[in-house]
Formats: sequence, structure tokens, C-alpha cells
Amino acid sequence: MKRPRVIANFALTADGKVSTRNFTDTTFTSPSDKRRLKEIRALGDALLVGGRTVAADTMSLGLSAVDLREKRLARGQPAEPLRVIVSNGGTLDPEAKVFHYKSRPPVVFSTRRMPESQRTKLSPLCDLWLFPEKSVPLDSVLNLLHRDYAVRTVICEGGPSLFRALLESGAIDELRLTWCPLVFGGAGAPTLTGLPGDFLKTIRRGRLKKMETIGGECFLTYSLEGAASSAPKPSRRS
Ligand SMILES: NC(=O)c1ccc[n+]([C@@H]2O[C@H](COP(=O)([O-])OP(=O)(O)OC[C@H]3O[C@@H](n4cnc5c(N)ncnc54)[C@H](OP(=O)(O)O)[C@@H]3O)[C@@H](O)[C@H]2O)c1
Repeated sequence: MKRPRVIANFALTADGKVSTRNFTDTTFTSPSDKRRLKEIRALGDALLVGGRTVAADTMSLGLSAVDLREKRLARGQPAEPLRVIVSNGGTLDPEAKVFHYKSRPPVVFSTRRMPESQRTKLSPLCDLWLFPEKSVPLDSVLNLLHRDYAVRTVICEGGPSLFRALLESGAIDELRLTWCPLVFGGAGAPTLTGLPGDFLKTIRRGRLKKMETIGGECFLTYSLEGAASSAPKPSRRS
């Protein structure tokens, strides 16, 4: 099944947290990181985000930087990437910024678990796709984006639940990380793959392609290898 190339982009604290224990929005990065996020966003034909991140970060998923919009137009791309949201239960707020941003309407992938009343509210605001499965089949989402929307590069800005699911299905090709010089601690704040819990089914290995530091932050680019090896069994250290 054909799919676009997928680049994931996250900012982390030095102890690997992507958010606070209250799953609040990501405010701990510098202006350099915020600019970098926009530059990475501008690389995509589509921007893919989980429903909980869209809500927590009150995102429009737009690209307002004039220079980046102009570069896209010069490359023959639309000024902004297609905005794509996935939500299993479909509990997205029709009043949310993402549905009222002045751009092409977003695409929403959800399931038939979405109540009829919610479908009625959302369908005028977006391209709404409903799958019969309990959980949105992400491989089908990527295939549909490739086939019906001519998407060749997807930028995934999380969150961790969506990232983990894509990682487990082998669909992440590149990972961009911003390591930030602060430490949260605590087991209740999510890491890149969510709250500490089960091992991934397989280990995904990355190859460092680029590293850059600006101020106290470190920007890393990894390509992820396709072949995955078995996850380690937990063992007690004495
Ligand atoms: N530091 C960073 O760079 C960064 C980046 C992004 C997000 N964040 C933070 O991460 C937090 C939100 O992350 P999150 O993990 O709670 O949520 P998330 O990954 O943003 O959202 C997961 C969403 O995807 C839906 N989904 C659809 N198919 C799925 C599948 N196969 N597997 C998993 N989810 C699927 C879920 O629907 P249902 O809810 O209906 O199940 C859910 O709405 C926020 O605090 C946000 O600020 C940080």
C-alpha cells in the first residue's frame, strides 16, 4: 500500500518529557525552536496531528509566516500544508480554532463511534472520513492521503499517542527532536511515546543525520530504519 514519507517533530525536556503532568501545551521552547517548527511544517504536503494535541495546544495548524508561504508557492505547492486531524472517538470541538482558520478546510479521520449529532456539526467544517474500525487505521489514512490528496510528505506534530501508533506501524521515516535545557521529573508527564508503560512491540533504531545547537537547545534529525528488532524483556537490576 503506497504511503507518503512521514517526518515527526517533537520538543523534549532534558528528561524526555513532551508535556507536563496536566498535558498542557508545549510552552517550554525558545523562539528559535518555534521558528524551526514552522520551517519543518512548511516542508509538508500535509500536517498530521492527534485530536488531543489540537485541543491542548489550541492549534490552527496553519502556516502564517509570509516567507515560508512564498517559498512553498515558488515550489508549486499550496501556501499551507493540508491540515489533518485523527480522533478515534471524534470528540473534537466544532468551535475550535482549527475549524475556523481561513484556509482549505481540514481533513478529519475518525470512526463510526463519532455520534450522529457530532457528525452533523463537523461535516460542514471539514472533509470527514469515518472508518468502521474502533481505532482509526493509520495505514489506511496514509494511503488515502497519498491517493486522494496527492500527499507525498507528511509532517506529524504528535502527540505521543499518535506518534507511538505510527511508530509501531513502521510509518515514521524521520524524527526531528529539539532537546530543551530544563527538567520536569515525575512519572505522570508524557514522554515521546506517552506515559511510561508497555514496551514497544519492536525497537526502532535511528541514524543521526544532523545535529545543531542554538542557545541552550539541541536540534537533532534522525532517519529511522525500517527493520525493527524485538523489544527487550524487562529485567531487574541489582
Ligand atoms: N512537546 C511536543 O513536541 C508535543 C507535540 C505534540 C503534543 N504534545 C503534547 O502531547 C499531549 C497530547 O498527547 P496525547 O498522547 O494525549 O494525544 P495525541 O497523540 O495528540 O492524540 C491522540 C489522538 O489520536 C487519536 N487516534 C486516532 N487513531 C489513533 C491510533 N491508532 N492510536 C492512537 N491514537 C489515535 C485519538 O483519538 P481518541 O482520543 O478518540 O482515542 C486521540 O484523539 C498534549 O499535552 C500536547 O501538548 C507535545
